[in-house]
Amino acid sequence: MSSVRLRSRLAILAVLGLVLLGGVAPASAQWPPEVKNLQHFPKDMEFRELMPVMRSFAFGLGVRCQFCHVGEEGQPLATFDFASDEKDNKKKARVMLAMVDAINGEHLAKLEGDSERVRVECVTCHRGAAHPEQLRDILVAAAGESPDAAVARYRELREEFYGQGTYNFSESTLMQAAEALAEAGQMDAAVALVDESLAHTPESAWALGTLAGLEQRRGNVDAAVAALKRILDFDPDNERVRQQLDKLTAPAEEGGDGS
Ligand code: HEC
Ligand code: HEC
Repeated sequence: MSSVRLRSRLAILAVLGLVLLGGVAPASAQWPPEVKNLQHFPKDMEFRELMPVMRSFAFGLGVRCQFCHVGEEGQPLATFDFASDEKDNKKKARVMLAMVDAINGEHLAKLEGDSERVRVECVTCHRGAAHPEQLRDILVAAAGESPDAAVARYRELREEFYGQGTYNFSESTLMQAAEALAEAGQMDAAVALVDESLAHTPESAWALGTLAGLEQRRGNVDAAVAALKRILDFDPDNERVRQQLDKLTAPAEEGGDGS
């Protein structure tokens, strides 16, 4: 039932799909290919109905056809063997199709009320990435290599994906990653990610307060004090920060070692 709805909804896009693909494929007897190995979709589903679905897979995951199908980059699609099940990603995609049907057909169907239900599609989770990992987790994993590697990974992904909705590049992601790293005792990496966040949003009490806490735990009282003072620069009436500053500076003046 769900695939019928999907088919009708995407049928409008079929024309567009054919026009676009027609530009890539040569006038060949193999194009369009004969559809002969459908196991999830109805066996009699036509090529022109299948195409917009395939294009939604490619866009949803940010990949080309050959991610799932046997064929060479740069070669015309007419030379591809679309029926082959050789690639693991095609088999995984079938698992995903069954999962998406279950989510929409079994689980979401149980919700009562609103008539306009939001349906889950590939892009709902994948958002243009083949492996839908959260940025926070990617950064924590990269920090396992080095603090610099975590920052470099953030910059690379931001450069490539900013504005596409694939990853959340906001302060909250960097703060969450920093918290997780601090929890695991990786203080240098945690500080590096907070610094990176401050490079984008310098006047953030959240990031500066976090930085102060991390520096204090690392024994860098001067750096903690400097971070708190930066908050007072744009928020001079912040009493909590003033109190924190007093606490930090008082023992140091009495010759405390700050550790
Ligand atoms: C994320 C994986 C994925 C991507 C990307 C993808 N496909 Fe598919 N494709 C599949 C799966 C899975 C099937 C089989 C569906 C089924 O069993 O009902 C399939 C089936 C097909 C078939 C039918 C093959 C047959 O003979 O049964 C064609 C044709 C096809 N895809 C073309 C394309 C084209 C063209 C692209 C690029 C625009 C593309 N696909 C991108 C996963 C993918
Ligand atoms: C509910 C969220 C969700 C939806 C919806 C979803 N996926 Fe996935 N998909 C995942 C997750 C999570 C993974 C990684 C699984 C793992 O690492 O074991 C994944 C992995 C994959 C992979 C393996 C690639 C890789 O590098 O891990 C393919 C191919 C794939 N999905 C295709 C699809 C297609 C096609 C659709 C739409 C029909 C889809 N997915 C819909 C969550 C989803």
